[in-house]
Amino acid sequence: MTKARAFLLPALSGLITLLPLVAASGDALLRATRSDLSPADMARVEAVTRPATDFAKAEAYEAMSGGGATSDARPDQDAFSHPSSTLSFEDQERFHLGNALFGKLWVAAPSSTQASDGLGPLYNARSCMSCHGRDGRGSPPEGKADAVSMFLRLARPARTEAEREAVSRHEALNFPDSIYGEQLQDLAVPGLKAEGHMQIRYEEQVVTLAGGEQVTLRKPSYSVSDLAYGPLDPDTTLSPRVAPPMIGMGLIEAIDEADILGHAVRQKAEGQGINGHPALVRDHRTGQLTLGRFGFKAQNASVRDQSAGAFSGDMGISTPDRPNPYGDCTAAEAACLAMANGVQQRLGDTEAPDPVLDLVTFYSQHLAVPVRRKVDDPVVLKGKAAFYAAGCASCHVPKYVTRRDTPDPALAFQLIWPYSDFLLHDMGEGLADGQAVGEASGREWRTSPLWGIGLTRTVSGHSFFLHDGRARNLTEAILWHGGEAEKARNAFAALGPQDRAALITFLESL
Ligand code: HEC
Ligand code: HEC
Repeated sequence: MTKARAFLLPALSGLITLLPLVAASGDALLRATRSDLSPADMARVEAVTRPATDFAKAEAYEAMSGGGATSDARPDQDAFSHPSSTLSFEDQERFHLGNALFGKLWVAAPSSTQASDGLGPLYNARSCMSCHGRDGRGSPPEGKADAVSMFLRLARPARTEAEREAVSRHEALNFPDSIYGEQLQDLAVPGLKAEGHMQIRYEEQVVTLAGGEQVTLRKPSYSVSDLAYGPLDPDTTLSPRVAPPMIGMGLIEAIDEADILGHAVRQKAEGQGINGHPALVRDHRTGQLTLGRFGFKAQNASVRDQSAGAFSGDMGISTPDRPNPYGDCTAAEAACLAMANGVQQRLGDTEAPDPVLDLVTFYSQHLAVPVRRKVDDPVVLKGKAAFYAAGCASCHVPKYVTRRDTPDPALAFQLIWPYSDFLLHDMGEGLADGQAVGEASGREWRTSPLWGIGLTRTVSGHSFFLHDGRARNLTEAILWHGGEAEKARNAFAALGPQDRAALITFLESL
């Protein structure tokens, strides 16, 4: 395994190189070292998070992907829907209340069920669960069906000096379409026209792997039909996004930012062409600059931020963090602004007053990561070695120890195995959407966590992967990797059929 060792320098080294990186990221001061650990704990954490070097047997606690919070329930279709095992009895109650709200179907205002109205007027889905079905991932529409768990984000780059400054001060991530706003809503309440419909065309491309196996990839192109309110701005780009699985979100939030930054430093030092960088974003509630971790472009700082954004953009429901009851309606959509909204002063200032957002956030933070299967299987271990040797683990970083001082003790000081560096990477032209989001360019994506990926078919009934679901299985997902991941992709394609199959078996055990 000398090949594997060669690219794995210890994480968290090179603090001196880190300083310019932090400065170059704007005025935020992301911490370069962990502040929650004593020197003795720090040494322990470094030791347990060191990359694997022995592939003859499983590592200690390797099966427990979500640390102590891992769910050991049967790996059936509900595998992503269990609460963290570390929740107190009282918090399990909160989790169940949050679950009901996550599945709640919102209705158009006015309605006799006043606490459930306020949907839209423009929207993509009526509940969180419609997209994150069984807390798993969505899929692109097949055949003529409308997209349910997938939508197009709309944005244009800065045009003026003032707009460029707003982006560099992190006050704007990019600029909405002047008519259609930040995302295309393909549904609307009765009496209002939906904005339009996403169209996908696939073109097939054949790729030949070592050993002669041929794989057909489908390259999508996106357009919008039935635009109801006039043309899109010529500078507006379309970024397709499929709903990702919901597991382990609170644990991702509990990873120390210094650990994530440390991987950017390590990648640079290794000089292998992998150069992840952190996304600095403004938390919508506090206005603070912080590390973005959620969403395909790491554009959201917290689970709460992501959830409030989903209430507003995906369902048109206002919350204390996003108080506009008209969601993504713009001034140019006068018919939308003329519709009723669901605010009932008696119930609060927003359609979903607290504690709704609190409970949904809590639920989203505590969906447990399922226990791994077959960690000791010789084929799985062989695939794990191939995963490291191909350079996958440089971005899909296996393990972390969460902060000791998290606000929520159920998530503190856990050894977790998300398989991501949570950094942005140039993934090449093939995956590019051409849409810059804050510090993420139109070719960059956040490394997707891989925990739970082997249960995709079990939970969601399909195996569509990547941000837009173009890959129909894991092999296709890997073959789409380009840019900084091109070397790893080529190493995978060059493996003999047995090693390649073992690598896939390893992914299926996650
Ligand atoms: C119309 C479909 C849709 C609905 C409805 C929806 N989501 Fe999502 N969700 C997505 C998509 C697509 C993404 C990826 C977003 C991106 O990258 O821009 C996402 C991302 C997320 C993430 C971050 C996942 C990650 O890996 O970073 C969380 C958390 C989340 N959604 C929670 C919610 C909650 C809570 C609700 C209900 C209030 C909700 N979602 C409603 C489609 C949806
Ligand atoms: C340069 C960093 C990088 C390297 C190296 C890399 N990946 Fe990825 N990987 C990513 C990013 C970023 C995404 C998200 C891309 C997207 O959705 O368009 C991703 C997505 C994936 C997915 C799909 C995840 C999902 O939920 O849809 C799989 C599977 C995957 N990678 C496996 C691998 C394997 C196996 C290797 C090694 C052969 C590898 N990756 C190497 C960055 C990397």
